Amino acid sequence: MLGAIVLLCLCVCVSSGPFGRSDGISLDPKVPEEIREDASLKVPALVRKYGYPLKEHRVTTADGYVLTMHRIPHGRDAGNSTAERPVVFIMHGLMSSSADWVLMGPNKGLAYILAEEGFDIWLGNARGTRYSRQHVKLNPDSGADFWNFSWDEIGNIDLPTMIDYALDKANKKRLHYIGHSQGTTSFFVMCSLRPDYNQKIISMNALAPVAYLTNNACPIVKAMAPFSTVIEKLSKVIGVGEMLPISNSKVMRWAGEKLCSDTAMFQEICTNIVFLIGGWNSLEFNRTMLPVILSHTPAGASIRQFAHYGQVTHSGSFRRFDHLGIWNYKIYGTWDPPLYDLSQVKAPVFLRYSLSDPLAHVDDVERLAKELGNLKAKTSIPMTSFSHLDFIWGINAKKLVYDQVIADIRRMEESLFIFHPY
Ligand SMILES: *[C@@H]1O[C@H](CO)[C@@H](O)[C@H](O)[C@H]1NC(C)=O
Ligand SMILES: *[C@@H]1O[C@H](CO)[C@@H](O)[C@H](O)[C@H]1NC(C)=O
Ligand SMILES: *[C@@H]1O[C@H](CO)[C@@H](O)[C@H](O)[C@H]1NC(C)=O
Repeated sequence: MLGAIVLLCLCVCVSSGPFGRSDGISLDPKVPEEIREDASLKVPALVRKYGYPLKEHRVTTADGYVLTMHRIPHGRDAGNSTAERPVVFIMHGLMSSSADWVLMGPNKGLAYILAEEGFDIWLGNARGTRYSRQHVKLNPDSGADFWNFSWDEIGNIDLPTMIDYALDKANKKRLHYIGHSQGTTSFFVMCSLRPDYNQKIISMNALAPVAYLTNNACPIVKAMAPFSTVIEKLSKVIGVGEMLPISNSKVMRWAGEKLCSDTAMFQEICTNIVFLIGGWNSLEFNRTMLPVILSHTPAGASIRQFAHYGQVTHSGSFRRFDHLGIWNYKIYGTWDPPLYDLSQVKAPVFLRYSLSDPLAHVDDVERLAKELGNLKAKTSIPMTSFSHLDFIWGINAKKLVYDQVIADIRRMEESLFIFHPY
């Protein structure tokens, strides 16, 4: 993590130099053209480049955030029929974006695989990420007001808004949900604070599920946890609300190609930094893709999202953001923040976790499984070294995770057809 901070500082320093401003970044000619191009494209152009249809949809939340969803309505090859299809909504994790589900390319990215399998794919982007960095009044680049949110608001406001929009456009009443990491946390928040949304979910596949963090094995998270609330308050006082405000990804793209590509000598350091931040295992990680990954990630988040996870780690409870004493009383009417009631999560949930995930620790997953209102299955990945980020970027993610997810979705779809024809 220290390494990561050093690299990021380096990047931020570099960004004020010639690389941040210019549009003509000099690229390493030895990096393959395919990789360079994928690193330079945003999600819509990247998906279209591979011959898949993509539509952008914008929706404004009740509190003014303008969110962008990326829809892949059908596939390119065997799944190219445009007939009506079941909807699958997919939600990314912390510091990530819709890019997670496509950046590994066709036959590897979950969005492409599901589109070929006959589903209508909607990729969400939480407030504050690269594609949802917009508000009707507030400016993300000035002051902290735009960043006054954690994953509580993402679950309580963004998810219901995006889900209602997708259902309306697709003319459906219910959909399948897949989330990774924070994409699962925010789902549990939604279903506990707004239980009416349970009925709109046919199935929920939780990849590397995170609700409790008592056993998380990241030393830095554990060390910072007791100070989360104070750090968050201080950051507000000095007017900073965004985590790592790298406002353009050119810097990361530059770092990815110059320092982390197959031909660069720092690749080993880069892979270790990714490991320290997110947890992966080298067997499952395709280093060639580092320039692409780093140009799309980190995709933006608020300091409060991290602070809220810090509070969960420290308190051992899955509960709403702790504004401290009197502020809690004003906002929630209680001195302590209220718990998220997981028994209210009545949507059918399939938990998929790995035995060596430092963030979604087995014991924390067990506790979550016991408290959920309608657990369908709890399945560990049959590879002990599989880790947190392997769920999205792992070389064998299709075989070890996605194929099982698809089987579950099909089974739930069939039972729906039998019991609740629609
Ligand atoms: C769909 O794919 C098949 C081959 O798999 C092809 O023959 C057909 O023309 C494609 N249809 C469209 C609309 O692209
Ligand atoms: C920030 O959000 C809290 C609720 O989470 C709200 O009470 C407060 O008024 C907000 N502050 C600003 C400056 O919008
Ligand atoms: C790693 O990524 C490169 C570029 O996309 C690809 O050619 C290669 O087959 C991948 N390696 C593995 C083991 O999947």
